[in-house]
Amino acid sequence: MSAPRRVVVTEFGETPDSAIEACTRLEPMTPPDPATLGPADVLVEIRSASVGWVDLLMTSGQYQHMPQPPYTPGLEYAGVVAWAGSEAATRLRPGDRVLVDGFVAGPRSHGEYQRYGGFATHAVAPAAAVLAIPGDLDFDQACNLLGNYETAYHCLIARGRVQAGEIVLIPGASGSTGLAAVQVCKRLGATVIATGRSAAKLAVVQAQGADHVIDTAALAASGGTLRDAVKTLTGGRGVDVVHDGVGGDVSLECLRCLRFGGRFLIVGWAGTPLVARGKGQRGAPNANQLPTNLIMMKGVDVLGCPTVISTVNDPSIRPARQAQVLAWAAAGDIRPYVSHRFGLDDYREAMRAKWRGDVVGGCVLHP
Ligand SMILES: NC(=O)c1ccc[n+]([C@@H]2O[C@H](COP(=O)([O-])OP(=O)(O)OC[C@H]3O[C@@H](n4cnc5c(N)ncnc54)[C@H](OP(=O)(O)O)[C@@H]3O)[C@@H](O)[C@H]2O)c1
Repeated sequence: MSAPRRVVVTEFGETPDSAIEACTRLEPMTPPDPATLGPADVLVEIRSASVGWVDLLMTSGQYQHMPQPPYTPGLEYAGVVAWAGSEAATRLRPGDRVLVDGFVAGPRSHGEYQRYGGFATHAVAPAAAVLAIPGDLDFDQACNLLGNYETAYHCLIARGRVQAGEIVLIPGASGSTGLAAVQVCKRLGATVIATGRSAAKLAVVQAQGADHVIDTAALAASGGTLRDAVKTLTGGRGVDVVHDGVGGDVSLECLRCLRFGGRFLIVGWAGTPLVARGKGQRGAPNANQLPTNLIMMKGVDVLGCPTVISTVNDPSIRPARQAQVLAWAAAGDIRPYVSHRFGLDDYREAMRAKWRGDVVGGCVLHP
């Protein structure tokens, strides 16, 4: 174990780019003393922390939930139990391999555990947030499980009602949420058409289960359109569902690929990330817009799919979703893919790589 350290976001930046360079630092930390912790607390030695999209948006206060700086980023992390309080010890023992639920602990939570993020050697979480790593997932895979796959479940199953035999179009399929959606679609028996701008990344997406891949950069260079390419693959009919995590022009192109009566799932806008004002100011002057004429004439159901906000509104939707994700992972039916790994000293390079879109699936730090 290296010397105890943590990354700190000192204040919100104007954008994640500027926040990474000017508003973060790596500093020594004093590991929490078990004598000061409560009976339900768990001290975790962190082995791997996911560098996620939300971690980046949070550094500029452009995410809906704003922890109070200074805070340590890292919504999701995995490691080993170093110490468990008397109540936690009924289920957890030192040395157990665990993942920590970013819905309950860490910078996206409320209350006393918010300051313990995953970009650190140690964190404290309540026992309710500390779960055994399912199946044979390694630490890198474990910290990329809940957020990505619960999002895929919420979007595709709870909101999209995807059925076996349906065809789902997934732009940005090489991303964390996109690749999870590819794997969940295959569990559901759906056919996946995945798009992206890099042949190398799409090769991984295909190896991860996509039935068809379309390189939109090559398509544009040859003068083709996404609608025509998708029509060719679907016998002229169009897809049943679009899972859109990219936004901008990509949304419009995908809307044109839907069959009459199809469903359009708004998952995110990685292609137009600066929708909200920076520095934690509220308001979204750069929000994406969809054309009502196409939605009307194609009889499309447009479905907003905010996983966390929906769960806060109705917590009853979570237990079955989380249980299914853990069961799939335990059985080896889903497995997060991680393309990039960095040490804590290189946390800035890890955040830049994620923000630039170099990553396929997950990007992790090894504290
Ligand atoms: N609904 C929810 O509950 C929920 C939960 C988590 C995240 N999200 C949102 O989902 C979005 C994606 O997150 P993520 O973690 O999957 O991000 P990610 O890992 O960076 O993946 C996004 C993908 O989008 C593609 N892309 C990026 N910029 C693009 C552009 N200008 N044009 C076309 N394609 C572009 C990239 O693929 P190529 O380079 O291959 O084109 C990239 O791999 C974010 O907006 C995030 O906030 C939503």
